[in-house]
Amino acid sequence: MAFVRACSLDDLWAGEMESYELDGKDVLVAHLDSGEVVATQAICPHQQIELVEGTLEKATLTCRAHLWTFDLATCTGLNPAHSALARYPVKVDGDDVYVDPDGDSPKIAHS
Ligand code: FES
Repeated sequence: MAFVRACSLDDLWAGEMESYELDGKDVLVAHLDSGEVVATQAICPHQQIELVEGTLEKATLTCRAHLWTFDLATCTGLNPAHSALARYPVKVDGDDVYVDPDGDSPKIAHS
């Protein structure tokens, strides 16, 4: 398990998300309105669309392509409920956000 610095909280205000390449993996980091910072896969489990191009409303991420929705607080699918997202371990140290890109693997949905 190796944490890698992804960004600073100054770069990622509450309600924002951004994708980063960390140790060769594309990771989406989201700063939820609740204050929690979550790291998940950058690519939608449905097709090859960047989730950062979607919208984030509270903890609900909506993919722009076919409007699948995910709860980033749990990294579970809302619609369809059978989908899921990877959840990478996150550590916030002061203003710095660290992610362990080896802590999970991207999920793929077969629909
Ligand atoms: S590619 Fe994301 S919902 Fe289809």
